[in-house]
Amino acid sequence: MVSTVFYVFIFLLALLSYIFIKRNNREPHKRLKLPPGSMGWPYIGETLKLYSQDPNSFFAAKQKRYGEIFKTHILGCKCIMLASPEAAKFVLVTQAHLFKPTYPKSKERLIGPSALFFHQGDYHIRLRKLVQGSLSLVAIRNLVSDIQAIAVSASDSWVSGQIISTFHEMKRYSFEVGILAIFGHLEERYREELKKNYSIVDRGYNSFPTNIPGTPYKKALLARKRLSKILSEIISERKEKRLLEKDLLGCLLNSKDEKGQVLTDEQLADNIIGVLFAAQDTTASVMTWIVKYLHDHPKLLEAVKAEQKEIGKFNDLNNLPLSWTQTRKMPVSYKVVLESLRMASIISFTFREAVDDVEYKGYLIPKGWKVMPLFRNIHHNPEFFTDPQKFDPSRFEVPPKPNTFMPFGSGVHACPGNELAKLEILTMVHHLVTKFRWEVVGSESGIQYGPFPVPQEGLPARFWRESSS
Ligand code: HEM
Repeated sequence: MVSTVFYVFIFLLALLSYIFIKRNNREPHKRLKLPPGSMGWPYIGETLKLYSQDPNSFFAAKQKRYGEIFKTHILGCKCIMLASPEAAKFVLVTQAHLFKPTYPKSKERLIGPSALFFHQGDYHIRLRKLVQGSLSLVAIRNLVSDIQAIAVSASDSWVSGQIISTFHEMKRYSFEVGILAIFGHLEERYREELKKNYSIVDRGYNSFPTNIPGTPYKKALLARKRLSKILSEIISERKEKRLLEKDLLGCLLNSKDEKGQVLTDEQLADNIIGVLFAAQDTTASVMTWIVKYLHDHPKLLEAVKAEQKEIGKFNDLNNLPLSWTQTRKMPVSYKVVLESLRMASIISFTFREAVDDVEYKGYLIPKGWKVMPLFRNIHHNPEFFTDPQKFDPSRFEVPPKPNTFMPFGSGVHACPGNELAKLEILTMVHHLVTKFRWEVVGSESGIQYGPFPVPQEGLPARFWRESSS
């Protein structure tokens, strides 16, 4: 009897040890603890807290309390937020394969599920190469005079002294530059159709996603369908003419995978809409902030004016348009652009989702949780940028420490349009300060999110044409 109990005891002990060892070997991460932080109320988490205040203050307060890594629960998602350069590098660069891009399905439906930024792996690599190629320095250097012409015509309608929304005007400009980069020269009727329908999609993008007829989201879905039709027409016309253009559409049309497969019309359309989406509000928001920062810093505006007027004077004398070389030699203006990108940090953070349990510095990032590298917190950390709330372009006389300045993201999904964006912004700065003076109207503070931060009401301002340059 005693020996039976003894054998049963030994058997149970062995079984328990086996289960314990197996569990620990198979799921070593289960032993790790979650990062500090609060998950808020059941279901709603901390969503109300986030939306009842400036999101930047929400993240900054969390970082102050919990440090570089913390957990929260917002918009129905369990999230881990990362506020250090090393953590951002871990998620976006060195361990990028463990974190997939993630967007709400409602937004994916509007842009199109084949757009590159929803993907990772082979399809993403293929598309990214094509997009990057069409936006490379070699490709965009030929666009300078066209971009300048777009800046001139975008400002044609600015009647002296009339109040306009700076953001709205900058959106018109960045849309046209986007169209140029994607299609090269596009027939007027196609441009107008694209503009009309894209603006409906744009309005739906930030609205409540519902299929109820008449709502902005439903209208946006219908406009998105019309966009596909227009794009199909443009594509078949291009195919017929067998043009070998170097613009984005040309690069996409000429691409074949290792099996000789070309991209489908749906893949082409989703990526065209995707690039337009990535290009328009981002660049327009930064330009709006620049108009504000220059207005708020008259000495800096004088320095930028002096730099640009010298270029303008030379070009006027020789009857030349702005050149690529000139856009690469604007040190004062360029530092203003960099400092505006830092200060405004219009992409405050990005979203990824852990595809597996991941360990970071002894903490568990559970599979399925959202992971958010907080660019803005890094850009506003006094450890990396002294007196971070001060607008001071001269700080960029010294390059920032590695991974501390990521306005265009980092790693496999970093912005392929960053050089085009900078060229477009510098061209607008050149045009603005050589041809105009302006005055900001009304309240000069306040930020609105749509979804990128822009000055309140899109920065209403009055512009006057300068009588001489
Ligand atoms: C100042 C303007 C811009 C800013 C601040 C900006 C910022 C960014 C950032 C932070 C990302 C990475 C997002 C992530 O990792 O989740 C990104 C991705 C992207 N951007 Fe930009 N962007 C700008 C302008 C543009 C322009 C002009 C284009 C195209 C003409 C463009 C095309 C793209 C595309 C296609 C991606 C996705 C890349 C991928 O997933 O591989 N962006 N951008």
